[in-house]
Amino acid sequence: MERETVLITGGAGFIGSNLAEYLLKRGHKVIVLDDLSRSTTDNIRACYNHSPHFYFVKGSVMDFDLVDRLVNNVDMVFHLAAQVHWEESIDDPLPSFAVNTLGTQNVLEAVRRSMIKRDPLKLMLYASSSEVYGTAQYVPMDENHPFNPQSPYAAGKAAADRLCSAYHHVYNVPIIILRQFNTYGPNQRIKGYSAVIPKFVSQVANNCPPTIYGDGLQTKDFHYIDDLIGAYSLIIDKWADLDLFGRAINFGTGRETSINALADIVIETVAEQTGRDLKGKLKPIHLPKRPGEVMRFTADISLAKKCLGFTPKTDIREGIAKYTSWFLKEGSPAV
Ligand SMILES: NC(=O)c1ccc[n+]([C@@H]2O[C@H](COP(=O)([O-])OP(=O)(O)OC[C@H]3O[C@@H](n4cnc5c(N)ncnc54)[C@H](O)[C@@H]3O)[C@@H](O)[C@H]2O)c1
Repeated sequence: MERETVLITGGAGFIGSNLAEYLLKRGHKVIVLDDLSRSTTDNIRACYNHSPHFYFVKGSVMDFDLVDRLVNNVDMVFHLAAQVHWEESIDDPLPSFAVNTLGTQNVLEAVRRSMIKRDPLKLMLYASSSEVYGTAQYVPMDENHPFNPQSPYAAGKAAADRLCSAYHHVYNVPIIILRQFNTYGPNQRIKGYSAVIPKFVSQVANNCPPTIYGDGLQTKDFHYIDDLIGAYSLIIDKWADLDLFGRAINFGTGRETSINALADIVIETVAEQTGRDLKGKLKPIHLPKRPGEVMRFTADISLAKKCLGFTPKTDIREGIAKYTSWFLKEGSPAV
């Protein structure tokens, strides 16, 4: 059987690179399009072992002609390229909107045009975000939870999420929208703006106290990367038998962890893995609360369970232990 070709935009990033490796192992041909603005080719080093079935194209989703050329030669498009930090979008909102919203429209438009020229693309997946919902108005948060984006990043992702749905309804683009809750795991590196788990692990590994914004009672639904890749895998296996096009599905764990609890877990885990006695020695430092931060998140994953049989397996302590072990082995991996 001919290998199906998948284009992953943002495929050198944290989630994209894990996905690329998984798809290559599954026997797909993978093309990664990434401008490396927020990542490094270190993340896709292992993908080259699958040569000649792996191709890396350094370029931007803002380059319509390039996206158009690539989309015309693939069976599936998984669109993950984005500027992912909501704090960065507060400091500098225009690039975030350009890449996350207009960049998504470029990909959708290229897919729409390709469907006129040739056999329809089989599947497009869009990496949306729980950020579109804003702070929970009820928990757990299902796919019908109102949109209340609280940062320019969240608003841009919300617009892109709805654009995906519109391209399905109007042009029949075969798209499924994944509303991913906070994901963490190997290949998630320290950057200028960093997600909370790499930031805490880096601080504690370097003998610094974790810095918490506000009282630390805010909660997130932390989802380990292997479980998210499991979700992509279930969709790839089952999409043809399900009526999911144009729909959004939540992927998270359904469990809430406060930032205070997360800081304690990270301190305990780093102490265990490095043999250092950190108990009582590294107390988190509380900084002023940040505008734009979502205060409560928990996913309702009933739809994913019902349609796909999705069951996240990794408990937060186990996931943090795996991430910390990768982080220490890589020696404080940065972009
Ligand atoms: N990590 C999470 O917790 C999380 C949660 C919800 C949704 N998401 C979404 O998942 C996707 C992947 O996120 P991630 O955590 O892997 O982030 P990441 O920053 O590691 O990956 C994003 C990748 O996109 C690339 N990129 C940025 N601008 C680009 C452009 N103009 N053209 C081509 N590539 C470009 C970056 O270089 C990077 O490699 C994003 O769409 C993000 O919004 C992530």
